[in-house]
Amino acid sequence: MGRKVLVTGGAGFIGSNFVRMLVDDPTVDLVRILDKLTYAGSLDNLEDVLGNPKVEFVRGDIANYDDAHPAMEGIDWVVNFAAESHVDRSLRNPAEFVRTNIEGVRVLLEIARETKPERFLQISTDEVYGSIAEGCVDETAQLRPSSPYSASKASADMLCNAYLTTFGVPVIIARSANNYGPYQYPEKLIPRFVSLALKGEKLPLYGDGRNIRDWLYVEDNCRALLLILKKGKVGEIYNIGAGELHQNIEIARKILDILGKPEDMITFVADRPGHDRRYCVNWDKIRALGWEPQAKFEEKFRETVLWYARREQWLAKKSEEAEKFYRGQ
Ligand code: NAD
Ligand code: TYD
Repeated sequence: MGRKVLVTGGAGFIGSNFVRMLVDDPTVDLVRILDKLTYAGSLDNLEDVLGNPKVEFVRGDIANYDDAHPAMEGIDWVVNFAAESHVDRSLRNPAEFVRTNIEGVRVLLEIARETKPERFLQISTDEVYGSIAEGCVDETAQLRPSSPYSASKASADMLCNAYLTTFGVPVIIARSANNYGPYQYPEKLIPRFVSLALKGEKLPLYGDGRNIRDWLYVEDNCRALLLILKKGKVGEIYNIGAGELHQNIEIARKILDILGKPEDMITFVADRPGHDRRYCVNWDKIRALGWEPQAKFEEKFRETVLWYARREQWLAKKSEEAEKFYRGQ
């Protein structure tokens, strides 16, 4: 008998990529998706897998016990991707972040006490460590989140730890770097800039454009998560990075270069309040489990930009919604 897996937030960016990987894994029998389908989630992201007999889709809210309880019944592995995920939105509406990212996790953990999954993988982020001026931090570093988003994710990590220690919920935490790849909502840097460039609009870099992120290809991240489910140790935290640290301005220039657009489409705008300068995690621990990023950055970055460019209509539709947020509508 293969594993039965619940993927919350499976209609979002990383979740939908992860679902695709699970469907192809012969040791997995059932992939149940629980997703509220917020602005960030879409069944379009799952188009190619929804007809697969292994896949079940349930629309529901992780913060609602009556939605989440039936979804967790009979499940071996819970993988919680469901979250409000955009820093800029957390500056405007922190309440929704507290509700989904903290209360939602509490509800799932409570249910896990009853339904007793073998593993509960909480998808966290490198942003919980806050800005890292130099070097890279391992899993024991202090949490110093800067935004309501990262504070809500750090709180969820703490709750997970408490439910592990107090009630024995078999929690594992994964803290990933910034992901890039297909199916990301165009409020985030890469798809947003591709979309604006295609429309002939300026690319707004916050501040001096020199903030640094470590860019991890989404499939590498998903492979790491699957490995953690299979070989990781309950109670552990695993950082997942790529060693691809790039300034935002480099990312913007690369996008313009790939699309054959001029560099003067870049513009500098007011900085994001509390904007973390740099993230960098040390991922020796997951390396020791046998994982390495496989993606060649230049190649996968180019492929990703072209993936969005080929879906110009899809992108334009999503981008119209996303830009309403930026215009304050
Ligand atoms: P996303 O915004 O693309 O997707 C989030 C999904 O969760 C959507 O499908 C949405 O409908 C669903 N959702 C939101 N609230 C829900 C609720 N209350 N109940 C059920 N479903 C709900 O996010 P993403 O970029 O795919 O991120 C997934 C997870 O990975 C998040 O937990 C995020 O914190 C974490 N993470 C993301 C990155 C990144 O670079 N994108 C990096 C590190 C960690
Ligand atoms: P984002 O994709 O929102 O991810 P995160 O803030 O979680 O790292 O942003 C990535 C970087 O790009 C971050 O330093 C903020 C910056 N950024 C811009 O400069 N302009 C933009 O329009 C966006 C969306 C992001």
